[in-house]
Amino acid sequence: MSLTVAIDGPAAAGKGTIARAVAEHFGFAHLDTGLLYRAVGARTLEGLPAREAAETLDPADLTRDDLRTPDVAQAASKVAVIPEVRAALLDFQRAFARRAGGAVLDGRDIGTVICPDAEVKLFVTASAEVRADRRFLELTEKGMKVARQEVLADVVARDQRDMERADAPLKPADDAVVLDTTSLSINAAVEAAIARVDTALRA
Ligand code: CDP
Repeated sequence: MSLTVAIDGPAAAGKGTIARAVAEHFGFAHLDTGLLYRAVGARTLEGLPAREAAETLDPADLTRDDLRTPDVAQAASKVAVIPEVRAALLDFQRAFARRAGGAVLDGRDIGTVICPDAEVKLFVTASAEVRADRRFLELTEKGMKVARQEVLADVVARDQRDMERADAPLKPADDAVVLDTTSLSINAAVEAAIARVDTALRA
């Protein structure tokens, strides 16, 4: 059995939480594709050209402990506009999506470009204010010293760069189900996502 769940949406919308919960519920594998771009971004901050950083990405790069910082997030969204960077990461994501036993991928272009044939497509969104609040809590809980205003500015700047780029811009696939979590709890969003996958499994 191979079933792909594509979860896209803007920064800090809750994609990761929903993706992890769906994967755990159904025993599917999960790939946070943002980590790939973050790892490439982190390597460029060390002076490596973006294309080379993507083409020589190593599994160990994905376990660096600085990948969640706002600086790396910004670097990620800057390398993400470069077509050669996106191309270098494509095959790995597609192969992951079709692995036996089911897969959940979260990112920006999973339902539109990476897996246009995914059986389930969700687009998770929320207001920028709500997303910035959630990300601020997440980062401060990890012990990072960040200002709420800076977190909001990071989220807004990345959304704009992600939506305006020519290659694989952030947008819902035509057949995606939109989950707006501005006033929907993450638990309710997880339940809605699980219900969608259940329906696809029965089809
Ligand atoms: O966790 P958060 O939603 O803040 O970001 P992320 O998913 O870790 O992604 C970091 C950055 O990588 C995004 O702002 C995008 O620019 C880029 N990205 C992308 O272009 N395509 C993807 N499939 C995933 C991430």
